[in-house]
Amino acid sequence: MSCLQKYVSMAIILAWVALLSFCKADDSASNSEVEALIKWKDSLPNQSLFDSWVFPTHTNSSSSTPPSPCKWYGITCNQARSVTQIDLSGRGINGTLQNFDFSSFPNLLRFDLHSNNFEGTIPHNIGMVSKLQLLDLSTNSLNGTLPLSLANLTQVSELDLSRNDITGILDGRLFPSESSTEPKTGLLSLRYLLFQDTLLGGKIPKEIGNLKFLVSLVLDRSHFNGPIPPSLGNLSHLQALRLSENQLSGKVPETLVNLRNLTDLRLFTNKLSGVVPKELGNFSSFTVLHLGENNFTGHLPPQVCRGGKLINFTAYSNNFIGPIPISLRNCSTLYRVRLEYNKITGYIDQDFGVYPNLTYIDLSFNRLRGELSPNWGECRNLTLLNIASNMMSGNVPNEIARLNQLVKLDLSSNQLSGEIPADIRNLSKLSVLNLKDNQLSGRVPAGIGTLSNLESLDLSMNKLSGPIPSQTGDCSKLRSLSLSKNRLSGRIPYQIGNLAGSLHDLLDLSYNRLSGEIPAQLGKLRSLERLNFSHNNLTGSIPDSFKHMVSLTEINLSYNFLEGPIPDIRISESFPPESFSNNKDLCGKIKGLRPCNVTEQKGGNKKKRKILIVVISSLAGLVLVSFTFIRILVFICKKKLSTNLVPNESIPKTSENPFSLWYFNGKILYEDILKATKNFDDAYCIGVGGFAKVYRVDIPGYDVLAVKKLIFEARDESEMKNIRHFGNEVSTLTEIKHRNIVKLFGFCCRGIHAFLVYEFMERGSLADMLKSEEGAKELDWGKRIGVVKGVAHALCYMHHDIVPPMIHRDISSKNVLLDHQLEAHVSDFGTARFLNPDSSNWTGVAGTYGYLAPELAYTMVVTEKCDVYSFGVFALEVLMGKHPGELISKMQAYAVESIQHTDILDHRLAPPKTKNVANKLGLVMNLAISCLSANPHARPTMRSVSKVLEFQAFDD
Ligand SMILES: *[C@@H]1O[C@H](CO)[C@@H](O)[C@H](O)[C@H]1NC(C)=O
Ligand SMILES: *[C@@H]1O[C@H](CO)[C@@H](O)[C@H](O)[C@H]1NC(C)=O
Ligand SMILES: *[C@@H]1O[C@H](CO)[C@@H](O)[C@H](O)[C@H]1NC(C)=O
Ligand SMILES: *[C@@H]1O[C@H](CO)[C@@H](O)[C@H](O)[C@H]1NC(C)=O
Repeated sequence: MSCLQKYVSMAIILAWVALLSFCKADDSASNSEVEALIKWKDSLPNQSLFDSWVFPTHTNSSSSTPPSPCKWYGITCNQARSVTQIDLSGRGINGTLQNFDFSSFPNLLRFDLHSNNFEGTIPHNIGMVSKLQLLDLSTNSLNGTLPLSLANLTQVSELDLSRNDITGILDGRLFPSESSTEPKTGLLSLRYLLFQDTLLGGKIPKEIGNLKFLVSLVLDRSHFNGPIPPSLGNLSHLQALRLSENQLSGKVPETLVNLRNLTDLRLFTNKLSGVVPKELGNFSSFTVLHLGENNFTGHLPPQVCRGGKLINFTAYSNNFIGPIPISLRNCSTLYRVRLEYNKITGYIDQDFGVYPNLTYIDLSFNRLRGELSPNWGECRNLTLLNIASNMMSGNVPNEIARLNQLVKLDLSSNQLSGEIPADIRNLSKLSVLNLKDNQLSGRVPAGIGTLSNLESLDLSMNKLSGPIPSQTGDCSKLRSLSLSKNRLSGRIPYQIGNLAGSLHDLLDLSYNRLSGEIPAQLGKLRSLERLNFSHNNLTGSIPDSFKHMVSLTEINLSYNFLEGPIPDIRISESFPPESFSNNKDLCGKIKGLRPCNVTEQKGGNKKKRKILIVVISSLAGLVLVSFTFIRILVFICKKKLSTNLVPNESIPKTSENPFSLWYFNGKILYEDILKATKNFDDAYCIGVGGFAKVYRVDIPGYDVLAVKKLIFEARDESEMKNIRHFGNEVSTLTEIKHRNIVKLFGFCCRGIHAFLVYEFMERGSLADMLKSEEGAKELDWGKRIGVVKGVAHALCYMHHDIVPPMIHRDISSKNVLLDHQLEAHVSDFGTARFLNPDSSNWTGVAGTYGYLAPELAYTMVVTEKCDVYSFGVFALEVLMGKHPGELISKMQAYAVESIQHTDILDHRLAPPKTKNVANKLGLVMNLAISCLSANPHARPTMRSVSKVLEFQAFDD
């Protein structure tokens, strides 16, 4: 046979084959495809998306054209009109795959259902679509284990099951085996294997090393443990290896240095140890290397930027020793570097060059020496420069003042000397300036006053002298000012009183040589919590205006030359005597001080007021007095809450980088939230509280969310610990599921903001509902009883059914939200508890005026019984339609029996029509009253309240 003949006959055969398969596809495949699709559609909830998925209506020519799905939404066919692609991604579709008959799609190449609400398991018969090239089921709620039949998908090059609830292990049998004798099976064509954010665990199978085409292996944020298999070093095409946030242990295998094309290696937050291979980065062009939060020892890989492409490099919170990698010196691509909390040594004046792209560098808590290089001034995009707690010496170079993007500059706890550069006033974006604990001398530059974004200034523990510049009073955002332990002299500038709107946290001028009188203007600092002027030479009396400083929790004026009466600072009795000791001649009601002359004008006033209070309290009862105390307490607590959290930039334990997306519950990306709210535009704000704003977030295809944005501020290490702790706790709170508790989906920290993502409650708060005439009418007696019952169940659950029990601390009508059926959901459960340092029992956190148990004014110890009291107030409020303040004081004064139930019911509703409803209301009222016992032990438990409501009120 000639060559030509051979080709002709071959062509004929091929044409036949094509024709045959065409015919087959046309009558049978396409038909069964249509049926399979319709069967699947019918198994799903009715969704308009599938409107085009119908059998063609049979007209006269029906038999000649078989039904075809090719024009249906999401379906693509080949020329033979057989389905090749199903793409239903990102449409919020509800359903399962149980009725999807994979065996009916012999020609399917792409199956893409990512970003929907598919539930249930991945069916076993998925192994039947043996031509499949792309399988993307990511971002759904699929659960169960991975079917082994996936190993049949030998053509799949992209397999993405990330962001699902898939459990079990990654079975080695899914991948090709090493032996060349066995027939090749398994997912041998894989280029992209994306299984991050699942519940998959166990070891990473060594067989993954046989996926010789693999480009990306992404397993972050799952439950993998054991070692990184050395076989991964065989993946010669591998570009991204992301294994962060698992429980991996052992060493980084030497074989990884063979991965010449690796650009992105993320191993942070695991339990890896040992020395990182020295050659890592030697031939490759790394752009991202994350080693943070492991137990690595030895040196950092010296050639990590040899390829000249390194952008993001983190190794924080390990035990690295030795110098900063030599190749970083000329690594001008660097964008972000975090090496804090190691034992890195060496002289950084020699090791660091010019980094035009660098935005963030944290080298704090190491053992670095040398002088600060003027080159820092050339890193023009720097927003954070933190070299705190090292052994740096020399001056602060003037060039630092060229970093006009800088937001945080922390050079504290080094051995820097010389003066603070005057040009520091150019750092117009600076929010945190911390130079404490150095040897700085000279004056505090007056230019500080132009730093209009400065929120925290700490220059304490230096050798600064001269006066405090009056311009300090121009820093209108300053929350915390510490100049203590210097040699400052002159008067305290009265202009500091101008900071009344911002100075909340700390004013510490102690251990200086300040003299003169304390300016009366400082009394304007009504929200200041901590004030320390001790160990100075202050004279005169304490200004009477100090009585307005109602937020003070700590004051120290000791070791001065003050005299005269201590103003009536409202809780001054609770300050320890040391606060005022060692002065010239202070007097007042404080232990250790002589009482003031009672004939004095002020003293007389005070006495009168005291008598008045006694009269009032005997008339109006204990509770009213308590409220006075509580109001102060609440004020303080609220302030405290707003400062107890810190941005994640300063937390070594968080793991963020500019490339990784934040998501919660495997579903929504942080960016989606930003987009949906147009960067938290006020138009989307649905509520503002003391320390948070709440936004309505509508992401197409998902349930509406409520995102609570809290504003945090960094202060010190112990608070960083707190926020970490808080983050951990919140993650456990997301697991709490109760029909009367607003579901918390997640938590994240970005910059100075932290976000709590909640289920959205259509009808808003009960407080708002009761305020409106319409709302009050809509909440009829039956619904109101339901609301009380719901809140009782929620509290009972949190007090008695979870371990450890959780106290809400702030039950009020504002924190009870209603869904579209007016069912009650308690919000903010548990988020209050961990905000307060060092304690889970102390009332560091908000409660609401009028709902707080009276004992809190004296004991400060929060127990379940405090919630019971608040619940009592709340239940009465639901019945009355308004806060029962007056009634409660009456109840203390008169016998409870004398209160007519019908008198107190909300007049906007008609009185209960049936005896049955009236009885239930009476029961709720009696329960509420028993919850309001002044004696905490006399109050019932929420278990018994909840039981009574469940069985006695609702047995009809
Ligand atoms: C899925 O179900 C939810 C809740 O029932 C609904 O709001 C949503 O519209 C459904 N999705 C589609 C695409 O119909
Ligand atoms: C998987 O999810 C379905 C539907 O959400 C649920 O009914 C089933 O119990 C879950 N199975 C497992 C093993 O979690
Ligand atoms: C694997 O594919 C073959 C042919 O495509 C099929 O016969 C077999 O049933 C499949 N196996 C599984 C486990 O799905
Ligand atoms: C590595 O990357 C280079 C450049 O992108 C490419 O030409 C080469 O084929 C890659 N090598 C492997 C083994 O993938």
